[in-house]
Amino acid sequence: MMGDTPTTGAGVARSASAMLPGVARLKKRLSKGEQVGYLPVERRWDRYEQQLETLLSFTREHLVIEGSTVLELGPGDTFCLPLLMLAAGVRRVICLDRFDQVRVTDDAFETYAYLRDKLRPSVDWNRYIDFSARTFNPDHLVFQRVSIDEPLLVPPQRANLVYSFDVLEHVRSVPMTVQNLGKLSLDGGFQFHSVDMAGHGSFESPRPELEFLTVPEPVWQFIQRSRPVPNRERVETFRAEFSRAGLTTVVEKTLSVDEDQIDGLRSQLAPRFRHLPPEVLGVVRLMILARVTRAT
Ligand SMILES: C[S@@+](CC[C@H](N)C(=O)[O-])C[C@H]1O[C@@H](n2cnc3c(N)ncnc32)[C@H](O)[C@@H]1O
Repeated sequence: MMGDTPTTGAGVARSASAMLPGVARLKKRLSKGEQVGYLPVERRWDRYEQQLETLLSFTREHLVIEGSTVLELGPGDTFCLPLLMLAAGVRRVICLDRFDQVRVTDDAFETYAYLRDKLRPSVDWNRYIDFSARTFNPDHLVFQRVSIDEPLLVPPQRANLVYSFDVLEHVRSVPMTVQNLGKLSLDGGFQFHSVDMAGHGSFESPRPELEFLTVPEPVWQFIQRSRPVPNRERVETFRAEFSRAGLTTVVEKTLSVDEDQIDGLRSQLAPRFRHLPPEVLGVVRLMILARVTRAT
């Protein structure tokens, strides 16, 4: 009798994984990304205005972004932050992402029009966007489809500042990614990365930030094949790879969970995380500005 026995490969994997430590509380709806159109248009900018402010707070004392060429890795569903960078005086933004075509939807253009109306007349948007043709002026905003964690076939143009928000925790290989980022930087240029190392809402849990580290590694790798879950790399991996790529830290800030959260979880953690010191394990966000001392 079949009864409740799952018959599909995914069903078998789901019921098997539910018996493994930590996996039972994994939300069914793992990381369903927020889409632009779900928020009222005036709220869609909040996240990116905050990102611009963060970026400027790190870079202000160290580089002049006005008139420079910058490169954003992983802008997401819109060009919101690239447009804010242009409004802040950047000359050209090169955007790289492994997905294309989502940034020219009706919703995306409704969002861009809101910013145009809000910042007019201080910004001459005709220089950047042709709203009727729905195109961007390539002198100022270009997009290139690139998977940054694979060998770069045609390296894009180099930039004075290479930056990303909430991207490096999604790449499949941090060493390959950081090596590639070095090929996008000018010697003496800068890189800024903000990395979200928490659980991305994957757990129904009172300790949502780190509980995803209890899932055994082979199970996590299996889930990763079908869902955009994070790579679970911890802060010391990012620091080591940045340093190996010739990046010298200029400013680093981290956010960490309380130590009692770590103590309560430690014995349940997957073996690769169990023996990490609290100052490594507890870090759930890394924000780093680094100088490129040896462009590759
Ligand atoms: C979580 S979203 C963040 C989007 C945006 N930066 C933000 O903060 O709203 C991650 C972005 O990184 C891109 N991304 C993830 N892995 C990538 C890779 N290996 N190469 C290029 N882009 C990647 C995704 O397509 C997506 O646009």
